[in-house]
Amino acid sequence: MKETVIVKNLTKTFQLSKKQMKINQTTEKVKVAVDDLSFSTFEGEIFGLLGPNGAGKTTTLRCIATLIKPDKGEITVSGIDIKDEVSIKREIAFLTNELKLEEQFTPNYLYDYFSKLYDVEEATMLARKQLLFDRFGVSKFAEVKIGELSSGMKQKVSIVISLVHDPKIVIFDEPTNGLDVITAKTVTDYLLELKEQGKTVIISTHIMNLVEKICDRAGIIIDGKMRLCDRVDALLKNHPGQDIEEIFFDIYSEVSHE
Ligand SMILES: Nc1ncnc2c1ncn2[C@@H]1O[C@H](COP(=O)(O)OP(=O)(O)OP(=O)(O)O)[C@@H](O)[C@H]1O
Ligand SMILES: [Mg+2]
Repeated sequence: MKETVIVKNLTKTFQLSKKQMKINQTTEKVKVAVDDLSFSTFEGEIFGLLGPNGAGKTTTLRCIATLIKPDKGEITVSGIDIKDEVSIKREIAFLTNELKLEEQFTPNYLYDYFSKLYDVEEATMLARKQLLFDRFGVSKFAEVKIGELSSGMKQKVSIVISLVHDPKIVIFDEPTNGLDVITAKTVTDYLLELKEQGKTVIISTHIMNLVEKICDRAGIIIDGKMRLCDRVDALLKNHPGQDIEEIFFDIYSEVSHE
């Protein structure tokens, strides 16, 4: 199987403002968000990143998506170094709840706008839009301004817009966050379809049984470090009688006692 995303010894720190130091209840001026982290993903797999709040999942995904620059380490996506931001952006879809859609535009307008940005040919754009809008139920509110949509509806719009260019690597940060169970299932079913098409899907999630259900491999990040990374079936086999949640708790308590 071909490797798609390769993360080697990634380290990312943030300089903290006085206010951030206060929020984090620390006297340290620098926060190490990701600490010498390595992992890779393969074609046709769903990779799940697990970890407590503040573990470094979103930071890792933002580095891969070229939204922020690593301090140290190397990242390649389909063999392309992340320094080549333009090429990387064509390879990937990136979904995170920090990305906000412009409130005054409609889903239809934004879809077309982003398709043009990615040079998607008109006929392909229209066919893909129809497919995605129908699939995620966006057709019903395609002409309603973003500002008038619920957060779940906005999430659906963000998902379809992230896919305008039919990317090979789909990176979704907590994709089912805020979605009702039916829509969440639509999303996870779609991710499984993307995997069947040979694409790589990377998700971060707090939903442990989602990992068991759809992920081929998973990595557990705690305090910016990759504590465990393996095939989900191997993890379950190596920890007889435990589910992913129990395995996660065990690793978390081991780390807390270090
Ligand atoms: N721009 C920033 N400036 C300062 N600190 C930051 C910044 N972005 C992230 N951090 C810090 O880096 C650490 C990792 O954050 P990150 O968002 O990657 O965690 P996460 O694993 O995605 O958590 P969650 O599950 O809550 O989404 C946290 O301590 C966070 O406060
Ligand atoms: Mg996060």
